[in-house]
Amino acid sequence: MSNKCAIFDLDGVLVDTARYHYLAWKELAEKLGFEFTIEHNEMLKGVSRMTSLDILLEVGNLKDAFTEEEKVKMATEKNNRYVEYISNIDESEILDGALSLLQELKQKGIKVALGSASKNAQIILKNVGIEEYFDVIVDGNSVSKAKPDPEVFTLGAETLGISYDECVVFEDSQAGLEAAKIAGMLAIGVGQEKDLTNADVVYSTLKDFDIERYF
Ligand code: BG6
Ligand code: MG
Repeated sequence: MSNKCAIFDLDGVLVDTARYHYLAWKELAEKLGFEFTIEHNEMLKGVSRMTSLDILLEVGNLKDAFTEEEKVKMATEKNNRYVEYISNIDESEILDGALSLLQELKQKGIKVALGSASKNAQIILKNVGIEEYFDVIVDGNSVSKAKPDPEVFTLGAETLGISYDECVVFEDSQAGLEAAKIAGMLAIGVGQEKDLTNADVVYSTLKDFDIERYF
């Protein structure tokens, strides 16, 4: 196949940050007096910060318990905790197969884009040392619509002048896979098949991805 662009989600695909998001949300839930499990956390993957908070509050039966101002305060508190976790991360947090795939794509002359919902994407890329591989970075600061809206992927493709059907998206979330499909891009799920029913194909890690088959 002759795809021209690889678009990567960040959290849970390239870098093992999903667990820090989970820890920070879990701490907030505990403060509010309820348990937030790893299964609940699946629903937050790929979802924006404020929507994540709404989902978490629903889990705790606290959906209408807070004002908008209080919710912003809680989301900020969670983010401060999360930023503490990620401020010291290094290349050891890069997920299996991610670095070699980025290197191979570059060698083949394939364009590489980031398509992440996170407003912390730049600092994460910098801390783990993979910033240089990206031709374009689209993150939570550059888009107005959250996944499953495809804006975070289409903006990258448009910036690079590549048509959507020549892009391959790597995602660990259902919302992100849905976004890729809406854009007409190939949706590669990274994780467990049972969680990623929106994917065209699922690999348990990027190490198993067969680059020759798609690029
Ligand atoms: C996504 C994560 O990459 O970024 C979500 O999968 C997270 O769980 C979202 O809520 C927003 O991240 P941040 O860093 O801006 O709070
Ligand atoms: Mg993700």
